[in-house]
Amino acid sequence: MLKKINTSFTKMMNIDFPIIAAPMFLVSNTDLVTQASECGGIGTFPALNYRPIEKYAEALKTIKSQTKKPIGVNIIVNKSNTRQNQDLKIGLDEGVELFITSLGSPKTVIAEAHKNGAKVFCDVTNLEHAKKVQDMGADGVIAVGSGAGGHAGPISPLVLIPWLKASMDIPIIAAGGIAHGSMIAACLALGASGVSIGTRFIASKEAQVDEAYKNAILTSTPEDIVMTTRVSGTPASVINTPYVQKLGTDLPWAFKILKEHKLTKKYMVPLIHLMGMNALEEAATKPTWKTVWTAGQSVGLIDDILSVNEIYNKLLTEYDEAVKNLSQLGVE
Ligand SMILES: Cc1cc2nc3c(=O)[nH]c(=O)nc-3n(C[C@H](O)[C@H](O)[C@H](O)COP(=O)(O)O)c2cc1C
Repeated sequence: MLKKINTSFTKMMNIDFPIIAAPMFLVSNTDLVTQASECGGIGTFPALNYRPIEKYAEALKTIKSQTKKPIGVNIIVNKSNTRQNQDLKIGLDEGVELFITSLGSPKTVIAEAHKNGAKVFCDVTNLEHAKKVQDMGADGVIAVGSGAGGHAGPISPLVLIPWLKASMDIPIIAAGGIAHGSMIAACLALGASGVSIGTRFIASKEAQVDEAYKNAILTSTPEDIVMTTRVSGTPASVINTPYVQKLGTDLPWAFKILKEHKLTKKYMVPLIHLMGMNALEEAATKPTWKTVWTAGQSVGLIDDILSVNEIYNKLLTEYDEAVKNLSQLGVE
């Protein structure tokens, strides 16, 4: 029986372990979410994984029928997401306990979620944004550092967490590159109240992505991860497959000009998003030579496909060992 880990985050969410199974486009499904929450962490998924919107409501009902533990939903709060208000309302109606916002202003989500007693954590990559969402009333931030899968920030987690911690009052969750229990211990030592782990869970039995994608997680090294703006216009980490190499990691010049121009910006940003999402969906779900696979640098630490339950157990055992080893340092 693994000992609980108590932090401000576990107390706030009433969970045993401060480990979020991070929301991942196309990867997080109902089984992954249910299992993560049943393990004592918290499972989360992007609302947009279920399209049309009726399927999202169904997915929430399925998860809620399988676990009584808290779960989380990710809502992308920029203009490209035309569903955000409906996604929020359905989430609140189904009793979602945690909302994770990314890529825009979380103001509405915070106001509405708080009316229902739900918590809101916002993805941030620097202090300015972290302070802004704290002032808006966010319950916590997810500090996304360099090396993360998806939209990674530019700052090393070793610097990002203490930097935010020095000036913030709300809990900080560390994200980016975490795939071993010793890294959870390190993040808590740096001042985080929890961790959010994505890439490790792509190589899980529950993730319903193509086997080739899972195998690429096992065989890739941190050096195979490159940042590209071609997926959404914002830098995102992907595996440097031959297709990504052929495509290049920068938007074509015409796209860049139209994306920055005040008259065309509002059409281009959603268009780039839509094109990127379609490319990702093809690569994640079926064999294709157009392989664009999102993943972070922790691919270098992952060499087995395990169930979500096995992943939690492994992380927690490694965490215990790391804490024990550290506590013995300096003892003669
Ligand atoms: C395949 C994949 C898809 C992701 N999709 C989303 C998403 O839809 N929304 C979001 O806020 N973050 C997304 N992320 C970022 C994760 O929520 C999390 O911040 C990140 O995975 C943490 O870094 P790690 O992958 O190194 O553990 C995604 C990450 C990956 C690997």
